[in-house]
Amino acid sequence: RALIVDFGSQVTQLIARRLRESGVYCEIHPFNKVDKAFVETYDPQAVILSGGPSSVYWDEAPMADMAIFEAGIPVLGICYGQQVMMHQLGGRVEGGTSREFGRAFIEKVVDDPFLEGLLESGEHEQVWMSHGDHVAEMAPGFGVIAKSPGAPYAIIADPERKFYGTQFHPEVVHTTHGRQILRNFTHGVAGMKGDWTMAAYRAEAIEKIRAEVGKGKVICGLSGGVDSSVAAVLIHEAIGEHLTCVYVDHGLMRHGESEQVVSLFREHYNIPLVHVDASDLFLGKLAGVSDPEKKRKIIGGLFIDVFETEAKKIGGADFLAQGTLYPDVIESVSALGGPSVTIKSHHNVGGLPERMNMKLVEPLRELFKDEVRALGRELGLPESFIGRHPFPGPGLAIRIPGEITREKADTLRKADLIYIDEIKKAGLYDEIWQAFSVLLPVNTVGVMGDVRTYEAVLALRAVTSTDGMTADYYPFEHAFLGRVATRIINEVQGVNRVVYDVTSKPPGTIEWE
Ligand code: XMP
Repeated sequence: RALIVDFGSQVTQLIARRLRESGVYCEIHPFNKVDKAFVETYDPQAVILSGGPSSVYWDEAPMADMAIFEAGIPVLGICYGQQVMMHQLGGRVEGGTSREFGRAFIEKVVDDPFLEGLLESGEHEQVWMSHGDHVAEMAPGFGVIAKSPGAPYAIIADPERKFYGTQFHPEVVHTTHGRQILRNFTHGVAGMKGDWTMAAYRAEAIEKIRAEVGKGKVICGLSGGVDSSVAAVLIHEAIGEHLTCVYVDHGLMRHGESEQVVSLFREHYNIPLVHVDASDLFLGKLAGVSDPEKKRKIIGGLFIDVFETEAKKIGGADFLAQGTLYPDVIESVSALGGPSVTIKSHHNVGGLPERMNMKLVEPLRELFKDEVRALGRELGLPESFIGRHPFPGPGLAIRIPGEITREKADTLRKADLIYIDEIKKAGLYDEIWQAFSVLLPVNTVGVMGDVRTYEAVLALRAVTSTDGMTADYYPFEHAFLGRVATRIINEVQGVNRVVYDVTSKPPGTIEWE
């Protein structure tokens, strides 16, 4: 396996993605956590030093532990990683008078396994630069492998020690053959086999769960989403009836969702499932509450209460299973240092483990979203489940600004069903990260069949995204939006106007509350 040392680049995760796509298992760890003991325990076959926003000349500039260079394994430094490597091994880095961003074309200077299959004589290769400082003098032992007109040290290497440095970012798509370059490093230079597959991961994960849980009892909250479903099926495969799945219906799920979850687990997998219809409880406690954060807190708190009651019914549980994903786990190195502000209090069943003295089992902690989907396929989850758009824990509660009532939830469910149905019919569902409707607490005047109406406005939202952290609105054709609006206004009582949300994230968020 490979180790990625993070210096805070915006695209560090992409390095991991690229490596895993070529069958190399890897983990990202912050530079200040990777010391000699860590390197010895993790025992990587190759190390990649990421880019980062710092300059090696800053006070307290992040550095790599020398143990990395002394471990006798191949090291690749990308951008800031290259500069750190030069700075620490006896080369010289210079502050940039001009910062260089964007496209550059490199050409080969000498043959090297790092460029295997690329840059045949005289060819130029597009790469993506993004840096302020640059290497001015190479460390002893290093030579130039490739250069560009603006970057004499575009790729440098000490082939003896198998140390490489690139001034550009091979992990981004704008570096045309970046994936091949990284593969040349892991497979060619470091001799890794690249045999990490989902089937292998599944077998390993099952062994790990068995070792972790032993004869303990596990309780798992299902949300209807892919992550918790995949986690539950995997854990069930590992420990069978020691797992209890609980699905809490808070009355704010999408149309048909509860039935689908129940039938997937009980019929498709024959996994026992406790289905708690708690809609009266949730809607009752939410009555009259319009503040978004209050709604979130009420729902989060009730989830824990319901869960606790169910856990007691089965005689207590030793573990709580969660579908936490890798992007939530990575301790990112913030360029600005300080902790990030809370924009929204995201809801999960946090708080419960302490209250009930349970340990966490998180079998998806090492996976990215699309890898979870691949694992779901491996476990036989139906495609309709795997491709589902994400749905927030508080459900429709945060898509009904203002007070929530059962009637409003029903109206929203009906409208949303039409919207999603039209998206599927147009073949756009998989292109969109998330699409949903929001029922606004605003009535407007309309006219239907010569009669004045005074009914609610429905907002449609659809975004593209790769991880939900940033997003852009989906550019539907106007005819499509018109079709959806007509159907909703004709078929859903209580809605007489439809609008489309064209806000990106940032500055907006995906959900409205
Ligand atoms: P925002 O609205 O913050 O949403 O841009 C980013 C992604 O997170 C989902 N989301 C949640 N998911 N519990 C969840 O499990 C929550 O409380 C929650 N709030 C937002 C949202 O749907 C989007 O995919």
